[in-house]
Amino acid sequence: MTTRNYTPFDQLLMQLDKAVRTVFGAVPNAQRPNPADIHHDAELSAEEQRQVAGLMRVNHAGEVSAQALYQGQALTAKLAEVRGKMERAAQEENDHLAWCEQRLTELGSRTSVLNPLWYTGAFTLGALAGLAGDKWSLGFVAETERQVVKHLEDHLKRLPVQDNKSRAILDRMKEDENQHATAALQAGGAELPEPVRRLMRLTSKAMTTAAYYL
Ligand SMILES: [Fe+2]
Ligand SMILES: [Fe+2]
Repeated sequence: MTTRNYTPFDQLLMQLDKAVRTVFGAVPNAQRPNPADIHHDAELSAEEQRQVAGLMRVNHAGEVSAQALYQGQALTAKLAEVRGKMERAAQEENDHLAWCEQRLTELGSRTSVLNPLWYTGAFTLGALAGLAGDKWSLGFVAETERQVVKHLEDHLKRLPVQDNKSRAILDRMKEDENQHATAALQAGGAELPEPVRRLMRLTSKAMTTAAYYL
């Protein structure tokens, strides 16, 4: 198989195209059915609807960041094998993005206006982690996914009991993110030092707080 060699300018244009599509484009096509589809819409009070929309907006913003993280990482990953292994995870993140956006629409709400900011930040972090070497970039992915799992567990507790649609989406996401963490570790991801993990937790706390409202 021949691989085409792209110039840095080609690559820049391709990255920009992906970024604009993720942040401003139409809802992406999911490859798997939306797990919420088999559930009926539950009766939610106005307050509950606002609360769930806030949570789903945070999750959508997280998935925008996941797209950026995997794209940034793919750009700088040294081994083609690492890139290939992370592609499946990136595709599943695309499903998550689509499901969260669909749920937000059903709730009569919108995505975060700060998505361009989340995308830029996560892309930069992904690319920098990639520059540090594959074992660190995979370690960064694994730690991110682990933190997302914890965060999803918290959201699952905060959902109104009757909201089976949102719960089905978050449950499936949690399963997938767990597998992404395992895949990144199996591909050679290193355990990140605690100060880095703490900084990541603080960053995601700031991000989730802002995306809930904005
Ligand atoms: Fe995800
Ligand atoms: Fe993931």
